[in-house]
Amino acid sequence: MKSQKKYILAIESSCDDTSAAVLCNDVVLSNVIAAQEVHSAYGGVVPELASRAHQQNIVPVVHQALAKANIDKKQLSAIAFTQGPGLVGSLLVGTSFAKSMAIGLNIPLIAVNHMQAHILAHFIRDAEQSVPPFPFLAMTLSGGHTQIVLVRDHFTLEVLGETLDDAVGEAFDKSAKLLGLPYPGGPLIDFHAKTGNPYAFEFPKPKVPDLNFSFSGLKTSILYFLQRKTKEDPDFIEKNLNDICAAIQHTIVEILMDKLQLAVTRTGITQIAIGGGVAANSAIRKRLEEEETRKGWQSYIPKFEYCTDNAAMIGIVGYFKLLNEDFVAQNVTAKARFVLNGP
Ligand code: KG4
Ligand code: ZN
Repeated sequence: MKSQKKYILAIESSCDDTSAAVLCNDVVLSNVIAAQEVHSAYGGVVPELASRAHQQNIVPVVHQALAKANIDKKQLSAIAFTQGPGLVGSLLVGTSFAKSMAIGLNIPLIAVNHMQAHILAHFIRDAEQSVPPFPFLAMTLSGGHTQIVLVRDHFTLEVLGETLDDAVGEAFDKSAKLLGLPYPGGPLIDFHAKTGNPYAFEFPKPKVPDLNFSFSGLKTSILYFLQRKTKEDPDFIEKNLNDICAAIQHTIVEILMDKLQLAVTRTGITQIAIGGGVAANSAIRKRLEEEETRKGWQSYIPKFEYCTDNAAMIGIVGYFKLLNEDFVAQNVTAKARFVLNGP
């Protein structure tokens, strides 16, 4: 099986990106992503609008992925799709599409956990990225997730900790919203922070036991801080935007790094693989580089297009499951809640 060329069509529709990819074994031939602009006016993803946009996007996106890969659908060996976790209406669009296409082509169907896909994105064969050796610690950081996972092999994953409330990307986006920045504000905080002083202001770090995270308290303390300061000076945000962004970013990054250090201490593992859209953050990357030099950690970050939600990462899980002939029947259903390695 390993030496044969297998073509896999992968579909991702768990949140607000409609994506389709074609892989030849572990190599990505195409990875088409249609982002949904409709949500920016609302400052966050509106589930009902997301599922409607998926319905509009799915057929053209799949067509484009096949065309870019120069593959006819008759050449496909299997179809992989995101089963969960995610928004149920969004997941349903991808699930139903994948099911009908698999039945039409009479090929196997592969159900993929989105969180496992963020981690296995590191295994996409690509000259620009290196593969972490087992065992490693994976930290998935995005607008929807914040998890630290111990990865023993492709299919043995243990969640060591996760957020109890907001995801780290939400912490960035909600803070940005308080500062009057547009959605998604994470990249803008990163941008303004570059010329700011991270120690200009101080925000409290939450006291959460073990390897779990909490970001909702930080958002509240930033809100109270801004209310107090703008009462004294209505132009406070405008005058101090770079310093405020730098201080917020510094606090968030230190929360992440503290937990990562604890995970390293507990497991003895110093191979760190990060993923998710927040992995683009320049301060996180800088801190990881510092720990490589200071503590001998090794860090791995996939190409950015494989960090944010994308179907190529669904396809790589599909490839490993295809090797194991791990297929699902047509009565498979979408799972809004889908615990990693859980039922
Ligand atoms: O993985 P992703 O594209 O979508 C999901 O949420 O699943 O992640 C998007 C999140 C948003 O919250 C966005 O603000 C954040 O990633 N983000 C960043 C940066 N680039 C994207 N946050 C901080 N710094 C960045 N450079
Ligand atoms: Zn995601």
